Amino acid sequence: MSCRVVVLLSGRGSNFQAIVGAKLPIEIVAVISNRPQAAGLAFAREHGLNAVALDHTLHPDRAAFAVQLADEIERHRPDLVVLAGYMRILSPAFIARFEGRLLNIHPSLLPMFPGLKTHERALAEGVKIHGCTVHFVTAQLDHGPIVVQAAVPVRADDTVATLAARVLAQEHRIYPQAIRWFAAGQLVNNDGRVNLKDDLTSQSVLSTGV
Ligand code: GRF
Repeated sequence: MSCRVVVLLSGRGSNFQAIVGAKLPIEIVAVISNRPQAAGLAFAREHGLNAVALDHTLHPDRAAFAVQLADEIERHRPDLVVLAGYMRILSPAFIARFEGRLLNIHPSLLPMFPGLKTHERALAEGVKIHGCTVHFVTAQLDHGPIVVQAAVPVRADDTVATLAARVLAQEHRIYPQAIRWFAAGQLVNNDGRVNLKDDLTSQSVLSTGV
């Protein structure tokens, strides 16, 4: 039986597109956006996927929206929920409901630069290596168990745009890979450290995009 995946997004959805393009052995059972105009939602529709808009601005009550969102997700009986540029903070109750089957991609080498404006901050700090991380979501923002990371060099003449583009190319590589591993039952969580079942030594950490 294939892995049932629900995707949550808020914007352009390039990671979602990369996941679709990777032709993974998964079934994307719904794509849900809190922004009805999200390009990712249009892409989902064009590809015959079940696209759902749940406009958070119509729900002034945060907690009520979180419950509605969680119920909508649950309705599709997902094995995995994929956050692909979902720009709303999720409540602890929501996260608890999906913990262990909730993945996120973050545009930095966590635990460096959690939160927003990661590329600006990387440039301001003068780091020489930057990158992206796929991790399981836990109640602490951008701190859950790390599945896979990819590193890129920071060049002297980089701007936020050039650095973001270099990182994004790697996001598009590692997110499908992480989902493939999850769907194949390959990810083992040992006390917050995620490894690959058949390779407990290297692969899940070794992914440079240099
Ligand atoms: C990506 O940079 C991702 O790391 C972050 O949000 C952005 C989403 O981009 N979580 P896209 O919508 O997938 O193009």
